[in-house]
Amino acid sequence: FSAFLMDSFGRQHNYLRISLTEKCNLRCQYCMPEEGVQLTPKSELLTAQEIITLARLFVKEGVDKIRLTGGEPLIRPDVVDIVGELYKLEGLKTIAVTTNGINLTRLLPRLKEAGLNAINISLDTLVPAKFEFIVRRKGRACFIAAGEVEDAQLTRVSHVVSHIICFHKVMEGIHKATELGYHPVKVNCVVMRGFNEDEVLDFVDFTKDLPLDVRFIEYMPFDGNKWNFKKMVSYKEMLDTIKQRWPELEKLPCETSSTAKSYKVPHFQGQISFITSMSEHFCGSCNRLRITADGNLKVCLFGNSEVSLRDHLRSGASEEELIQIIGAAVGRKKKQHAESALMSFPLCQDALQNSPNSKQW
Ligand code: GTP
Ligand code: 5AD
Ligand code: SF4
Repeated sequence: FSAFLMDSFGRQHNYLRISLTEKCNLRCQYCMPEEGVQLTPKSELLTAQEIITLARLFVKEGVDKIRLTGGEPLIRPDVVDIVGELYKLEGLKTIAVTTNGINLTRLLPRLKEAGLNAINISLDTLVPAKFEFIVRRKGRACFIAAGEVEDAQLTRVSHVVSHIICFHKVMEGIHKATELGYHPVKVNCVVMRGFNEDEVLDFVDFTKDLPLDVRFIEYMPFDGNKWNFKKMVSYKEMLDTIKQRWPELEKLPCETSSTAKSYKVPHFQGQISFITSMSEHFCGSCNRLRITADGNLKVCLFGNSEVSLRDHLRSGASEEELIQIIGAAVGRKKKQHAESALMSFPLCQDALQNSPNSKQW
């Protein structure tokens, strides 16, 4: 493993998250403001070629897992080609995507053929009408996003039918992914008090007959999401609820550098996990680096962009120079994002001051 991707606390960064686009076809309440986010001009975004050049460099230095994120990565027209090019990189073991699932059923066969081997899908409710509320999109937008129905036809589709179809696009995507052999399919569920904390047990049941890993995520403060401490449900609270219903819940061994604590109801096909970003952060074993859609390297989710790899690439920096620049940024990485521990939720203070936004996961 290259010394360039090791920080001053001995953490090796073998996991790169690349944002393919700042855009999203949904407007999840917890993620972005209703009007969307200020978008970077296209000429300032990384081209597919630039993404591959950078990915090759990181893989050469020891990255063996790349996750494509957004915005919503599956709205980028060349996403299948990008996966195909990544697949050619020797040493890269995992090519993953985090998606809202709207375009998944349509794209998955081609993504799989191109080499995609892990999928995380966001789904925060099992109730279609609540889904529409949280994603702030009616079925119409989802049709357009999926590119399947002409405007003229849409006007004939009733409101009720359309929002259900929007929700079902995601459900269909989840089923499609399990059918195509993605095991487990990770389902990301951000739990918010007053919205979906009453669905936790239903989500556990969702893992009964499907090879899913339903991941309950503690709600985090993001730029413009009006985060409020009271809306956050801690994993301990969720775990209590689940244990009351399933006292035989089994704890599963955790993988190194995993952000998730996993459990399983015996005899269920799938499992559940908790991503405890707020109540118990996992900075100590962080192995992640990020590249934003406009080519900035970020060494921490909660933190500013370190350096524009795009500018260095475009001004003709050599591979050696780029590696030095990346290494220097990794070397500056802090021990954790919140030095000043708040009593029980160490992340809050830092997160509120320095919250990430939906353009980059
Ligand atoms: P795996 O690679 O499958 O482990 O997925 P992941 O959990 O790393 O990524 P995913 O995109 O599915 O994100 C799930 C949740 O984890 C989201 O709510 C993210 O905000 C959170 N998350 C991802 N990376 C980080 C990180 O570096 N720090 C913190 N605090 N949270 C993160
Ligand atoms: N807190 C926690 N998780 C979030 N996500 C989006 N916004 C938040 C938030 N405020 C999740 C999405 C997606 C993943 C990339 O991050 O649901 O699954
Ligand atoms: Fe889009 Fe994902 Fe944000 Fe929802 S959480 S608005 S799907 S980027």
